[in-house]
Amino acid sequence: MAGAGGRKVNPRRTIARVGALPTRRRLNIYAIAIGVWVTGVLWLIYHYFVRIIDNFGFENSHPLEQWWLIAHAIFSFAAVWMFGVLWPNHIKKGWKMKARRPTGGGLFGVILWLTLTGLALYYIGSDAWRSWTSILHWTVGLAGIVVFIWHLVTRTSHDDKEHPEAEATG
Ligand code: HEM
Repeated sequence: MAGAGGRKVNPRRTIARVGALPTRRRLNIYAIAIGVWVTGVLWLIYHYFVRIIDNFGFENSHPLEQWWLIAHAIFSFAAVWMFGVLWPNHIKKGWKMKARRPTGGGLFGVILWLTLTGLALYYIGSDAWRSWTSILHWTVGLAGIVVFIWHLVTRTSHDDKEHPEAEATG
């Protein structure tokens, strides 16, 4: 099939709904989102509620607490990488076509906030500032799952538009 400017257009692409994600990518996104959320929650549980008593009777943090944070940082890097992967075909095209704009825009804001506050946690020197940044990071992170699910389940009237050359790569 000939597209604009006489270019050949793969007919499979012309039926792709804007922003539609192929199954494998969708599953990768779920795995990363669940991983980043669950490791954050596990760190919170271990940090605030789990203690071990050492041989001298002193309370110490559980060794797994540190590992949850390391796992969280690994999933976070994967989340930022996935965000970059989704940028051209899913986020930018979806925004232009007005598909799921309110929830997509909300999710974009949440991810941007978590990335910036997560980055700040590495470098803030002051204890007071760090602990506020931490609270502002994980409260938004906990609530972020709602925005994510909301984005998955809410459809808008613009969703069913077909993008002339939308790639089924999301
Ligand atoms: C795009 C998503 C996210 C990114 C990029 C991100 C990034 C980060 C980074 C870089 C850290 C510091 C890790 C370290 O000190 O080794 C961190 C810590 C943390 N994150 Fe996230 N995160 C994200 C999502 C979440 C979510 C969804 C939650 C909540 C369930 C969460 C809860 C936490 C907690 C509790 C900490 C430890 C805070 C502290 O050390 O005081 N994060 N995050």
